[in-house]
Amino acid sequence: MGRLAGKVAFITGAARGQGRAHAVRLADEGADIVAIDLAGPLPGVPYDSPTRADLDETTRLVEQKGRRIIAEKADVRDLEGMRGILDRAVVELGGLDIVVANAGICIPTTWDQSTPAVFRDHMDINVTGVWNTIMISAPHLIERGGGSIILISSYAGKKIQPFMVHYTTSKHAVTGMTRAFAAELGQHSIRVNSVHPGAVNTPMGSGDMQGALQRAAASNPRLAQMGTPFLSQYIAQPEEIAAAVAFLASDDASFITAEHLSIDGGAQYF
Ligand SMILES: NC(=O)c1ccc[n+]([C@@H]2O[C@H](COP(=O)([O-])OP(=O)(O)OC[C@H]3O[C@@H](n4cnc5c(N)ncnc54)[C@H](O)[C@@H]3O)[C@@H](O)[C@H]2O)c1
Repeated sequence: MGRLAGKVAFITGAARGQGRAHAVRLADEGADIVAIDLAGPLPGVPYDSPTRADLDETTRLVEQKGRRIIAEKADVRDLEGMRGILDRAVVELGGLDIVVANAGICIPTTWDQSTPAVFRDHMDINVTGVWNTIMISAPHLIERGGGSIILISSYAGKKIQPFMVHYTTSKHAVTGMTRAFAAELGQHSIRVNSVHPGAVNTPMGSGDMQGALQRAAASNPRLAQMGTPFLSQYIAQPEEIAAAVAFLASDDASFITAEHLSIDGGAQYF
């Protein structure tokens, strides 16, 4: 029996990358999955956008683990749209135990090249989207008598990510939101923790992402080495983040809440 046998997990941004890895790992440990993703054009990003086919691939991989999955296109900015999907899925799957608020965007640009739209999109998706995810999920966890909520922040939510004032701001908000929700939901036996990856090998690094990072870094080379890991490995695989998420979701982390777990090879201290 897996650590998460009989559990149901809701994961946002699950079409690909880390969200897919979380879905597959939690399913491998016995959980049924509710997966949502925009699975369409992302606003203003320099990397490739995901498609419905990506979400279908997540479905295939979870079913390959022998678990059930309900996967729908949805936008974390749309509170009521997400609520409708989750409420129906909870009826079908019998409850909700685990929430992984993973959906996010990231646009590198120096402070003076940024725009109101870039700042607003990061707040709408990376902050309000996470709040929306918890607001529709927490009532189900309370009804279940407890649960685990995991918010995907970033290295940028503990230290800073140069050339991303908007992203850094949004991920620090997620760190604060973790503590604030943990305080109020603790009386319902709901644990709330955040995860802070350094660089991760996902499609977020595709398209012109490396070019955008390099152009921004050229404006201030002093900052370019910030966030180098202590370990010789430079970048994490999504499965390394999923292993930490599975731990926090499980009873192995039963007395851990309001914690901020880095998986960055030490980069936050460089
Ligand atoms: N890749 C990295 O180096 C890295 C490092 C630290 C933190 N993160 C964070 O990890 C999380 C996952 O990122 P990833 O690397 O897997 O990137 P990714 O782009 O591969 O995956 C993110 C997913 O979120 C979805 N998404 C974006 N906006 C959405 C919206 N409005 N509604 C629903 N879904 C939406 C995307 O469609 C995509 O499938 C993000 O929150 C990101 O900020 C990434």
